[in-house]
Amino acid sequence: MADRQHNRGVPTWDLPVRIFHWALVLLVISQIVTASIGGNAMQFHAFGGYAILALVLFRVLWGFLGGTHARFRDFVRSPGAVVRYATSMPRGLHAAYRGHNPLGGWSVLAMLGSLLLQATTGLFANDDVMMEGPLVKHVSGHASAIATAIHDANAAVLLTLVAVHIAAVLFYLLAKKENLIAPMITGRKQSVTPDESARYGKLWLAAVLLGCSAAAVYFVIRI
Ligand code: HEM
Ligand code: HEM
Repeated sequence: MADRQHNRGVPTWDLPVRIFHWALVLLVISQIVTASIGGNAMQFHAFGGYAILALVLFRVLWGFLGGTHARFRDFVRSPGAVVRYATSMPRGLHAAYRGHNPLGGWSVLAMLGSLLLQATTGLFANDDVMMEGPLVKHVSGHASAIATAIHDANAAVLLTLVAVHIAAVLFYLLAKKENLIAPMITGRKQSVTPDESARYGKLWLAAVLLGCSAAAVYFVIRI
């Protein structure tokens, strides 16, 4: 069994994580493009933002109920573990991680947090011309201005986190010769020791959780 698993690779990123990731990439690109165009494109910006909000809510739930390496408890490690990992990295002392490494785990949390902040402040934001978020009508002009300022400032934070994320993935590929991208496509990692206990999450459960997340977003924007 261990040999068979080793040949095919260890189940790492289940289908819901992979779909979440690549859908997120396309949507974040679309958010930047639509915000740059402005005007009528802001309608698409709003829809893209709702989709990202639903995806991130889903990913938080999946962090508790998903496959082995999708779970927060698998990749959120103590600050001490992060420091040990970071300081041992230049010496190449550690083996490839089955899931996210200790540093990567925190960068994932930072990106999810920044995306959540970006999508929720967007609901209260306005561009002074064509478009306002669906919850602007419930708050004062001053509160909407603050939400808009946070939305603009956090856009820079998010883009910085994404740039560091992509640079890190490329660093692993080019400098450390470890391809992290292939497992995010196929789901399986070849370069790690076999793990009999690693499981993918249940697809029907992912569908239910995504449906609940989308329904929650729909409910909020209709208030
Ligand atoms: C808008 C751009 C991007 C965003 C917002 C983003 C966000 C994320 C997030 C949230 C995760 C964690 C996945 C999870 O556990 O659910 C992740 C992982 C990952 N992303 Fe991205 N990503 C972006 C672009 C890219 C690109 C362009 C690549 C390929 C060059 C890439 C490659 C990866 C890989 C390989 C992992 C797994 C890392 C590991 O093995 O620990 N990402 N990304
Ligand atoms: C995670 C999802 C989102 C991302 C990545 C995102 C990204 C951006 C970016 C990059 C800008 C341009 C900021 C600048 O001018 O410096 C922007 C502006 C804006 N976004 Fe979003 N956005 C998201 C969600 C939303 C949502 C859900 C809404 C409302 C339904 C929204 C409404 C707006 C508005 C009204 C502006 C114009 C603000 C201004 O004129 O200063 N956004 N967004």
